[in-house]
Amino acid sequence: MQISVGISIAAILVSSVVAAETDSESQPKKSRSAASHAVQVRPARLGELTRLAGVRTDKGSFGHNYTEVYERFLFQWKDAPIRICEIGVEKGGSLAMWADYFPKAKIFAIDIEDKASMQNARTKTFIADQSKRDQLQSFIQNFGGNFDVLIDDGGHTMDQQQISLGYLFRFVKPGGYYIVEDIHTSLPQFYPGYGVEPDGGNSTLTMIERYIRGAPPKFESKYMLPEEMQYLNENVEFADLNFRNNSVHSIMCIFKKKQQH
Ligand SMILES: C[S@@+](CC[C@H](N)C(=O)[O-])C[C@H]1O[C@@H](n2cnc3c(N)ncnc32)[C@H](O)[C@@H]1O
Repeated sequence: MQISVGISIAAILVSSVVAAETDSESQPKKSRSAASHAVQVRPARLGELTRLAGVRTDKGSFGHNYTEVYERFLFQWKDAPIRICEIGVEKGGSLAMWADYFPKAKIFAIDIEDKASMQNARTKTFIADQSKRDQLQSFIQNFGGNFDVLIDDGGHTMDQQQISLGYLFRFVKPGGYYIVEDIHTSLPQFYPGYGVEPDGGNSTLTMIERYIRGAPPKFESKYMLPEEMQYLNENVEFADLNFRNNSVHSIMCIFKKKQQH
């Protein structure tokens, strides 16, 4: 009895090593011990989100490689009836990816354009400008809040990113995630036209860096209301700022909401 318990624990430990040595799209490396046999399932499943992204959205290896990071956070809810909201639909590629990866999820999407043609039994779309609080409020009135995951892949301007974060963070479930994609639009030398002022002080990247450097961490945004900044200060558990140098800039940040306030 004791021996089999020992082997199970060893299997779990080996699984971490195998997972760490397996890149998101390849199959697990060959077993190096009998114990690793028991744990091949998990690393084989990691990489699924990137595979499902394919070329239908730039979230995967075709573009920004965000899916590699997302899967580490979101794998836990793969078979759960979670609520996902994404700002930015375009051709619906990421909505289809979420629906395939989370077979029990309900998916809600905001876009400034009418994307009703992307709707189906589990996916609902809503027309709203993410920089207008009254329109975001209408979205919440229609579909409710309590999102496990909320992703901003909309227009990527400074006001849009910060107003949406300030307004919508309240509607993330405790323990859930709010993700801001494409924060590289804060780098006007590469991406002009996203509303970064000459001194860069209003950029989303600057806001996050200031937050991270603060003691205590503190949100300061010219686009947010005082109560929104206070809510973020009190409810963000961590800000996981990610950068990838993969021929295109790929900067995104995952904000986790505290379990309880
Ligand atoms: C990058 S695309 C979304 C791509 C999609 N998430 C995917 O990965 O397949 C950006 C989308 O944001 C929408 N958008 C632009 N400005 C917006 C705004 N102010 N409010 C809401 N949506 C906006 C555009 O209409 C477009 O469909």
